[in-house]
This record gives sequence, structure tokens and C-alpha cells, in this order.
Amino acid sequence: MAVRTAVIPAAGMGTRFLPATRAIPKELLPIYDTPAIQFVIDEAAAAGMQRVVIVTSRAKPSIEKYAASASTDKVAVSVVYQDSPLGLGHAISCARDAVAGEPFAVMLPDEIMGDSSLIKELVKLYEKTSKSSIGLKKVPPTEVSSYGNVGTSDTSSENVVTINRIIEKPKPAEVVSDLVIIGRYVLAPNIFDHLAAIRPSSNGELQLTDALALLAVESQLLGIVSDITRYDTGTPMGLLRAVIEIALGRKDIGPQLQTWLENKFRS
Ligand code: G1P
Repeated sequence: MAVRTAVIPAAGMGTRFLPATRAIPKELLPIYDTPAIQFVIDEAAAAGMQRVVIVTSRAKPSIEKYAASASTDKVAVSVVYQDSPLGLGHAISCARDAVAGEPFAVMLPDEIMGDSSLIKELVKLYEKTSKSSIGLKKVPPTEVSSYGNVGTSDTSSENVVTINRIIEKPKPAEVVSDLVIIGRYVLAPNIFDHLAAIRPSSNGELQLTDALALLAVESQLLGIVSDITRYDTGTPMGLLRAVIEIALGRKDIGPQLQTWLENKFRS
């Protein structure tokens, strides 16, 4: 079955970007002149998604306002609400009715990708195997504990792996590999049943990773190890890097910015 819907969870509080996020949700922080979430909507549309469902909070009316003018002839953008901040797994389950029994993508707006290649590859892998498939990246050991970490068994092709273990933000002693989950997923609709079955983790949140772990024990979870350009705009340094690198790549402002940076650092 084709993957036609992308779910973008955008209900978080954005505390890392206070005081800006008192006035502007983190997903609307500008990457030069474009809100961060627009890059993710464009990435979804480039991968052939016809619908984008943003999961937001009623405390962030500007997301709803932005979504209202974000549809194009290619992609229809709508919102659903997550009424309590109960974690990523809970946010995804709020999109259940909107997804309507189809496979769907989850695209975390805290990560801006350099292009749409990873989500396209995940869609292709899902369409070939009917197995939920998630984006992975190799990171240095010091970074593993900030992410979901996976253990893998057979490797059916160079960068496609079967995931047999998955653990959210492991303590150093629990780390199973150097592979972490990056924020692109293509999920079979049975994930909603798994999300309904899991219990909240120790911080009271429903973790998407715990539902994915139920797929992993049934060998129903694949990963694509990717070296895609990725900006972790959920961190201040990642946001700054995205703003500078994306502006440098733009024809209108890039050359001017480059000259200014070169002059600034000329010794
Ligand atoms: C979430 C997921 C985690 C994943 C990460 C990617 O964590 O729970 O498994 O590795 O996104 O960015 P968060 O960054 O929301 O804490």
C-alpha cells in the first residue's frame, strides 16, 4: 500500500529555546526566512506524500494558523491536537483517526534533512517489504545516549538492517551499538495497536521506541543506515548551523553571507 500521509509531531514546549518560544513555537523558528516546519512539509511533499498531519497543542495556536495556509496543490496540511504532553508515542497515537488505517511516515520537525532521499528510501523499503522502517545513523559513543539506540541482526543489503533490539536513551552500560534513530520513520498501521498496549516509561511518557520494540521482537522492524546531511534543530547549535549552512546555499543571500563570513574571520 502506498505511503500517502506524513505525521509531524509538534506539540512540545521548546524549553531549550526560551525566551523565544514564549512567543514562537520552536517549529516556527526561522531558518533564515523559512519556518523550520516548512522544510519538513517540503520534504514530505517531495517524497510524494499527499497529506501532512501536524500533531500540535492548543497552547500553540500559531501552528494551526501556519498550517491553515500551508497546503499546496500537492499536499494537504491539517492539524490534530495532543491535549496533554505525554510523549512522542502518545503524540503519534493522536493521529490515529487521521491516518485512517494506512501506512504513514513520521517526520520529527527537530531534524531538518539536507534533502528528501532518506524518507523516499524508507517509503520504497516499506512498499517492498510491508515492514515498518526507520532512519538510522552511526554516531560517536558519546552521543548514543541522547537517542534511541538499536541492535541489528542480518544485513540484507549494504545499508538495510533488521532491528532486533531497541532502547530509548540508553545508559552507557546499556548501549547496544553505534546506531541511533534519526527522526524519520515509515510505520505500518499496526503501530497504533502497539502504542495502545505499552505502558508509560519512568518519566511518565509513552515512548514511540517502546512500541517499535514490540515490532523488533517479531522481526518486523527494518532500518536504513544513512549518512544524509542532517541538522538537529532541537539544539541551539544545530539551529545555528542550519541557519548558516542553508542560507549559504541560497542564491539570493548565500554569496553575500559567504563574503561577510570570510571577511569576519580573515586574520
Ligand atoms: C526522539 C526519539 C528517539 C530518537 C530521536 C531522534 O527523541 O524518542 O528515539 O532517536 O527523537 O531525534 P527526542 O529527541 O524527542 O527526545
